[in-house]
Amino acid sequence: MSILKVAQLGHPVLRKAADLLPLEEIPSSRVQRLIENMVETMREYDGVGLAAPQVHESKQIMVIEVQKNPRYPGAPEIPLMVLINPRITFPPEKKMAEDWEGCLSVTDLRGKVPRHIQLEVQAYDRAGKEVNLVASLFLARVIQHEYDHFVGKVFLDRMKSLKTLSYLAEYHRYWEEA
Ligand code: NI
Repeated sequence: MSILKVAQLGHPVLRKAADLLPLEEIPSSRVQRLIENMVETMREYDGVGLAAPQVHESKQIMVIEVQKNPRYPGAPEIPLMVLINPRITFPPEKKMAEDWEGCLSVTDLRGKVPRHIQLEVQAYDRAGKEVNLVASLFLARVIQHEYDHFVGKVFLDRMKSLKTLSYLAEYHRYWEEA
């Protein structure tokens, strides 16, 4: 396994729409290795999620996992999840909430981002099996954040205002709730 280089804001791959992964490619060693490396990379940099475009692969693959995470100490634990070609639907009431986000491609910045608090996802897992899940709150937020990487968006694009945008040190100093 290897730790991959994470594209930083300004790299065009982060602004491109990602392609669907042809399902017959899921079992290939290339894709399986990519998924392994994405997991390794996410863990190395204490991410809670990573989308393939962030490692220069413009494909709709995301990995999500929360164990004890120093970047997100209050986050609930989420077992490792691999979502390929996800389709997201939102419930009709479309309730939103604002909370802090960061991104491994936007190093050292945090900002408050409005997101839907609930959603449903239809996707494929790393075995090519169809998965359907209902997600809420933190997991729903992470899925929306990673999905945005498939449409060339980063969390900055979703902020209502940039007034909360903070460097990590200032975030810890002035904004973080005790
Ligand atoms: Ni991100």
